[in-house]
Amino acid sequence: AKHVVGVVVGSAHRGSINQKVATALEKLADGQVRFKQIQIDDLPMFSQDLEGAVPESVERLRREVKGVDGLLFVTPEYNRSLPPLLTNAIAWASRPYGHNVWAGKPAAIMGASIGPIRTANAQAHLKTILGYLDVRLIGQPEVYIHFQPELVADDGTIADAGLRGVLEAKIAALAGWVAKLA
Ligand code: FNR
Repeated sequence: AKHVVGVVVGSAHRGSINQKVATALEKLADGQVRFKQIQIDDLPMFSQDLEGAVPESVERLRREVKGVDGLLFVTPEYNRSLPPLLTNAIAWASRPYGHNVWAGKPAAIMGASIGPIRTANAQAHLKTILGYLDVRLIGQPEVYIHFQPELVADDGTIADAGLRGVLEAKIAALAGWVAKLA
């Protein structure tokens, strides 16, 4: 059966450029993997006070992370780091201590920003966090997108041939990595 890759997008606002890119991946995958979006924008702000009886959204997150064969993180950069939405989701599924469901998952990261920094710092920080959580990150190819509206067509497909090639290479590498570790 085809491996399922959970896509965790670090942004949920309407018109998110990272959401746009993440959505376009589906069509580019060409049957190599199946992408499944993992929702993180309805989780409460993490607090140890909530850990005794966690809400269903948190149970769902843990269940979905456990259930996928691999992960793809698509993140914006906020103030030279990752956005709180993503940090929050990572915290929830890393807890309680000893029950970190991210551990051992083959994964890749990428990101888009409107600036020339292209999420380089956010991705560096995310690698540190995921490394600590024992996520099996594949390092190459790196994808740092300097987003411009022309890159994505009105129907949501990637209009730019250069970006399309980069994303196809990313998907192929991740699919191979997931298959190898599965
Ligand atoms: C940003 N943005 C941004 N961009 C960047 O390249 N480096 C950065 O450090 C920051 N910092 C930052 C902080 C905050 C609070 C916001 C709201 C934005 C701009 C960012 O690239 C832009 O908002 C993108 O559109 C974010 O991606 P999504 O949310 O559209 O996917």
